[in-house]
Amino acid sequence: MKLKALINLLSDGQVHSGESLARQLGVSRTAIWKQVRRVVEEGYEVATIRGRGYQLTSRIDLLDSGEIINQLDTGLAARLDLRVLDEVDSTNAEIIRQIAESRGSKIPVTIADCQTAGRGRRGRSWRSPRGENLYLSMGLTFHGGFSVLDGLSLVLGVAVAEALEALGAPTVGLKWPNDIFLPSGKLGGILVELQGELQEGVVQVIAGIGINVHMTKADDVDQPWSSLASSCPDVEWSRNRIAAGVISAVSEAAETFSSEGFGGFRESWQKRDIYLNRLVQARDGQLEGVACGIDDSGNYLLRTREDEVVPIRAGEISLRVVS
Ligand code: BTN
Repeated sequence: MKLKALINLLSDGQVHSGESLARQLGVSRTAIWKQVRRVVEEGYEVATIRGRGYQLTSRIDLLDSGEIINQLDTGLAARLDLRVLDEVDSTNAEIIRQIAESRGSKIPVTIADCQTAGRGRRGRSWRSPRGENLYLSMGLTFHGGFSVLDGLSLVLGVAVAEALEALGAPTVGLKWPNDIFLPSGKLGGILVELQGELQEGVVQVIAGIGINVHMTKADDVDQPWSSLASSCPDVEWSRNRIAAGVISAVSEAAETFSSEGFGGFRESWQKRDIYLNRLVQARDGQLEGVACGIDDSGNYLLRTREDEVVPIRAGEISLRVVS
């Protein structure tokens, strides 16, 4: 019996008798009892109610590909190859493997309940506990070579921010190029990885998105962080709903970016800039200036003490506030 099937049955929070669970899963009551112990070992809270059965008392927000698909526009759903995995090293790595194997024309999307080797920007790791957050990667195809990708990273940040706000988050900030922020700290991040031109001019972009949803503990994270549930407790956050919102927003933004370029996204990015008018450093502290937002290609502009405006190229370095 799969543990997930039992968790699924218990996930409505109602009391289920051992007998009915055993019947529905086609196993003995003893097997149910053993599996309930395993569910508890996995970190869920299950109350045993004498004479009545078992009740899952901890919060549960299971990923379900059917639920995600149901919330997408049918045209988009038909163009996706959506895979929801229990565990994977990294959803970005998984998309890279899928692109290498597949000849399909669908957009690969992978979501995992946990990552064992989640990757962050600049070689960092990304904390990916089971069942808590959203770990989602999409494989996006662009035509015209790498040069057409200027600004894409920022476009993805805008798409994710808009999707989260549509679901009830307060104004989402962006830290150049695409860190996702709430006032209490970093809410998520986007890792963009590129695959070489498999055919001339065709570029595969792997957009990996991590969003903290329910996470309550992250002792090893070295900067202030936030989660949707802690920052907006009035909203009942569902990872399936967030996934559907993010997939739709990213697909639509990628299409617009492909046909019209970055220009139309500039303002939406700029109004979310958490560094605007602050004194920041770039290029490992070698350049210091006042943050003045982005130019038409998505480069970040710093006004130096000499009153010179210097563009910082996306992907070149990261910005840091001068403390
Ligand atoms: C950052 O450092 O801010 C970017 C973090 C990106 C994390 C996401 S989680 C889904 C995808 N898979 C990965 O291994 N990383 C990205």
